[in-house]
Amino acid sequence: MIDAQDKPTSERAEKRLFIKTYGCQMNVYDSERMADVLRPLGYAPTDTPEDADFVILNTCHIREKAAEKVYSELGKLRMLKDEKASDGRGAMTIAVAGCVAQAEGEEIMRRQPAVDLVVGPQAYHQLPELLTRTARARGERIGADFAPNAKFDALAGEKIGARGVKGPTAFLTVQEGCDKFCTFCVVPYTRGAEWSRPAADILSEARELAARGVREVTLLGQNVNAYDGAGPDGAVWTLARLAYGLAEIEGLDRIRYTTSHPNDMGDDLIAAHAELDALMPYLHLPVQSGSDRLLRLMNRKHGRQKYFDLIDRVRAARPDMALSGDFIVGFPGETDRDFEDTLDLVRRVNYASAFSFIYSPRPGTPAATMGAQVEPHVASERLQALQTLLFEQQVAFNQSQAGKVLPVLFERKGRHGRQAIGRSPYLQSVYVEDADHLMGRIVPVRIERGQQNSLTGALVEESHSSFKPQASESMTPLRPQAASDRVASVRAR
Ligand code: SAH
Ligand code: SF4
Ligand code: F3S
Repeated sequence: MIDAQDKPTSERAEKRLFIKTYGCQMNVYDSERMADVLRPLGYAPTDTPEDADFVILNTCHIREKAAEKVYSELGKLRMLKDEKASDGRGAMTIAVAGCVAQAEGEEIMRRQPAVDLVVGPQAYHQLPELLTRTARARGERIGADFAPNAKFDALAGEKIGARGVKGPTAFLTVQEGCDKFCTFCVVPYTRGAEWSRPAADILSEARELAARGVREVTLLGQNVNAYDGAGPDGAVWTLARLAYGLAEIEGLDRIRYTTSHPNDMGDDLIAAHAELDALMPYLHLPVQSGSDRLLRLMNRKHGRQKYFDLIDRVRAARPDMALSGDFIVGFPGETDRDFEDTLDLVRRVNYASAFSFIYSPRPGTPAATMGAQVEPHVASERLQALQTLLFEQQVAFNQSQAGKVLPVLFERKGRHGRQAIGRSPYLQSVYVEDADHLMGRIVPVRIERGQQNSLTGALVEESHSSFKPQASESMTPLRPQAASDRVASVRAR
């Protein structure tokens, strides 16, 4: 049954779909769901736009560079479309989806006539209908009204069938939108107000994923820890409550979530990190700046001390918690002193990994018109200094894993021999030789070395393993365990 969905018959697979995804994990999830919506129409995925009948660019508006990339990609697609039409290879439909579509749909249509339709992040469930209409007349633009509930209802509809699954990990959107209005950010405008999916829908999507071999879900939301969906018991469920519910699903051994806002980090979620084995000890908790003055100008609604206190509480609940963050340098008015405060915060927190960006003024956001924009060369120097420090911390964190035995979920094959690549609980990539028979399983690995961006390790012989085999693992029907397997299968942690 599952094969039938993964591999459409040749009759159904006559049309090819190419989706290029920019931006955050939620766009990755949305792209997968667009493919799900289009599968019943006979669209099968392809890796190149050259042989595609339908091309979708799922776009990101967060920084200027991200948005500009879309226009240069569209220029290339236009040439391809013209070539295909002139040498008789048939028509190619081009759609722009995602946050640029939402923010500047009309401009896209004006700047690039090769685009057939524009669809915002809350409207892509209407793609089949839009495609039919576009065949008659170009230029449909859908998206301005935010109605995530209608979208998710349609996505759960029986017509669509099961979700496509690629390997043992999957994203699962639980919350969308943002009410925080940080002064630099476009997300509240491109994704709309905060909205949480009902818990029952999320649990059923997670059950379906687990039945198809998914061992780890990453719950997604622009402010995922603000999740407050309707529970099946009639109560409002928090993210912590949802995590407890998900942890009960057979075969689902790892739960992650991203992105969290410091102000929404509830006590019950912190407590869940102490109690729930399935909740991975990795927390992405952006702070943006270490300067109280800038945090105020950014409208982050908390100061640095509150962030430190929060980190202390999280680490008290889960001492091995790996922390990650996002930082912006060069926000309007940022002085050397403000930037020093950011470096100081980073030194105090000690991150396992982090993302840092030069501030990019976004049209329509309050910060774009603030005075005292920082000189580009100053912003670049600050970014370099910050990234050097963050990189040192990341390398030190990776090196500190050497000698430990970590449960690794194997996700994909390596480039040579029988090498396999998996993830540690702390989201590090782990390279292991002679492990390609362990795809989709969580297995103890002795870490030998920590490098800049990954770990290398070796499988632990069963007799030497301190991990207990878990009955549920060997019973998972999609992943039969070979009798010759030498290693114990384990639950995370
Ligand atoms: N909801 C998340 C972040 C979403 S955007 C949160 O509140 O943390 C992801 C990251 O992009 C942000 O954390 C921020 O660091 C960065 N970002 C957002 N707008 C930006 C801008 N105008 N310029 C540079 N970086 C930006
Ligand atoms: Fe953007 Fe701030 Fe909302 Fe995050 S919390 S999505 S940075 S407005
Ligand atoms: Fe980009 Fe939209 Fe995500 S702006 S970061 S794709 S929410």
